[in-house]
Amino acid sequence: MSLKLPCRISADGILLEKHEMKNRLSSWANNIAPSPTLAVDAKAKKLKAEGKDVCGFGAGEPDFDTPAFIKEAAIKAIQDGKTKYIPSSGLAPLRDAIAQMYASKGVADVSQSSIIVSPGGKFSCYLAILAVVSPGDEVIIPAPYWVSYPEMVKLAGGVPVYAKATDEADFKLSVDQIKEAYTDKTKLIIFNSPSNPTGSVYSKAELESIMEFAVSKGIMVMSDEIYSSLTYDGVEAVSCASLSKEAAEHTIIVSGFSKAFSMTGWRLGTMCAPADVAKAAADIQSQTSSNATTFAQYGALEAMLNVEASQKAIADMLKSFDRRRLTLWEGLNSIKGISCRRAKGAFYLFPNISSFGLSSNDFCTKLLEQELVAVVPGSAFGSDENVRFSYAVSDKVIEKGLDRMKNFCERL
Ligand SMILES: Cc1ncc(COP(=O)(O)O)c(C=O)c1O
Repeated sequence: MSLKLPCRISADGILLEKHEMKNRLSSWANNIAPSPTLAVDAKAKKLKAEGKDVCGFGAGEPDFDTPAFIKEAAIKAIQDGKTKYIPSSGLAPLRDAIAQMYASKGVADVSQSSIIVSPGGKFSCYLAILAVVSPGDEVIIPAPYWVSYPEMVKLAGGVPVYAKATDEADFKLSVDQIKEAYTDKTKLIIFNSPSNPTGSVYSKAELESIMEFAVSKGIMVMSDEIYSSLTYDGVEAVSCASLSKEAAEHTIIVSGFSKAFSMTGWRLGTMCAPADVAKAAADIQSQTSSNATTFAQYGALEAMLNVEASQKAIADMLKSFDRRRLTLWEGLNSIKGISCRRAKGAFYLFPNISSFGLSSNDFCTKLLEQELVAVVPGSAFGSDENVRFSYAVSDKVIEKGLDRMKNFCERL
């Protein structure tokens, strides 16, 4: 029996009817863009593997090891046979500990059933979007945005509506801009404070006016708080859900263990949501991924329960991040043609490079080719005037990268 292929290939291996091949993919698959941040990281890693001395500022992950006490708890869990399915929404004591943490931050009506532990913060975002967005619904996304939000909204059949937060406004959206973007099809606003890529942190007063508007219109807010423990200059990240009981009823907090505990590879995300949304998201998770890795959740449980060790680990990491943030910020601003805001959170700086007259893509491609410095083009985040630097890299790389940036910019 001969197999019929959905495409025609010539004797010398050339694809003759590519469109037929394309047609076998879904409209979702044909419309999705691959993650540009992961692509830059992969390109930098490839050059490194070829022996090139690359300064990689592309990665969105802490360059520290997961704290030993967390690793030990997960290793013990494996040794104790915690290697089987558990309830899809997560380990009960872990969900309890997360619920308690949010209650202590002032989020109203939180209990174990409000919490879902998912396979990564990214999946938590997707669950939240799938739980509330129907085809044709509009979702307001402040730009610059984290690369995955628009693609996830599109995968749910929703329509991203962008509202531009400018450099001058510290990359923060005003409530008036949200009112302008709002239509009777708006279902969800996506918030991310501290922000990837800008590092901006919204104040309590700024969030209050936005939440007041969301509550008055009955729309939901997905508040991505994955960087909430990484803030500087005495700034504190406030949760939209902590502002009032009504605000909590309209907020889905998504977060995870990746950034605060340097656990990116563990794939552990969280969600804290009002009862109906939490139930819907739990059902979607139960039919798509089942539970996040069981023994990894025991590591996370230790991170939640051993507060002293966790606080110390985060404080140590923050100290290094803060030092690097200031070195990079000062260094970038000392380069003619570059202006950079002093970001207050996460581990990113988002300098403006528009004075060079290049698209952010061209700027980054040339920078990598000529000086072996990898940064992510702002176009990936909806802002072509900027590029993103992650300072989750060593002080040495920052120093070397700044020297190379200076040489590069002087030649432009
Ligand atoms: C803003 C934001 N949200 C969510 C995530 C997802 O994190 P993870 O899936 O690694 O937990 C990231 C990761 O880069 C992020 O930057």
